[in-house]
Amino acid sequence: MVSKVIIALDFKNKEETMRFLKYFKEPIFVKVGMELFYSEGKNIIEEIKALNHHIFLDLKLHDIPNTVASALQVLKPLAIDIINVHCAGGYQMMKAAQEVFKDTDTKVIGVSQLTSTSSTMLHDELLIKESMIDTIISYALNAQRAGLAGIVCSPLEAQQVHLACGLDFLCICPGIRYQSNGDDQVRVTTPSMAAQLTCDYIVVGRPITKATDRVGMYQKIKEEFEG
Ligand code: C5P
Repeated sequence: MVSKVIIALDFKNKEETMRFLKYFKEPIFVKVGMELFYSEGKNIIEEIKALNHHIFLDLKLHDIPNTVASALQVLKPLAIDIINVHCAGGYQMMKAAQEVFKDTDTKVIGVSQLTSTSSTMLHDELLIKESMIDTIISYALNAQRAGLAGIVCSPLEAQQVHLACGLDFLCICPGIRYQSNGDDQVRVTTPSMAAQLTCDYIVVGRPITKATDRVGMYQKIKEEFEG
């Protein structure tokens, strides 16, 4: 079974990506985000799939339902494992996204609140009066009603999302750190804490991609998360 530690391939181009993937001899789960996809396009997906890796395509679509559905139709033939849209796009948008993939194995996931968003930012900038957890649970319930397979949230919210939506509803959790290091991630936890908090998958970027021993760090995180 493929690991539930998803490595964020936040690289500039194909060369950097392939150099990194060469270290890994077995199939892993990777996340391709905007930077890499915008620079290399659909070819990068084919190349990574040719190496037998599983793919989470993290493009965080957020637009009117028709535009999101049309864009996803373009991506559908890539047969991605996991793809995502913003929950803030609303129920109809999520439903339109889910409809595109209804006859496929691709899981559509909703992005709740970014793990770089603090409660202060939620209230003062986004003008959302509810607490972070209430906002995320409401987004999760909307996503579930629209037929999505789960949401992206911080490990700190996973247990309550599972309580509200059930254990089959996936919580995919970035914001994994051994210690807060002052970068852009705000709502963070360690891999073992993420497991205790019932995260289904964790997404880890810089702690692995910037480590001196990348495979060693991946194995350590995998062992701590999967036990
Ligand atoms: O390097 P780091 O471990 O912070 O990488 C986390 C990855 O997860 C990044 O690619 C980021 O875009 C993504 N992500 C996130 N928070 C979300 C959704 C996705 O950090 N809510």
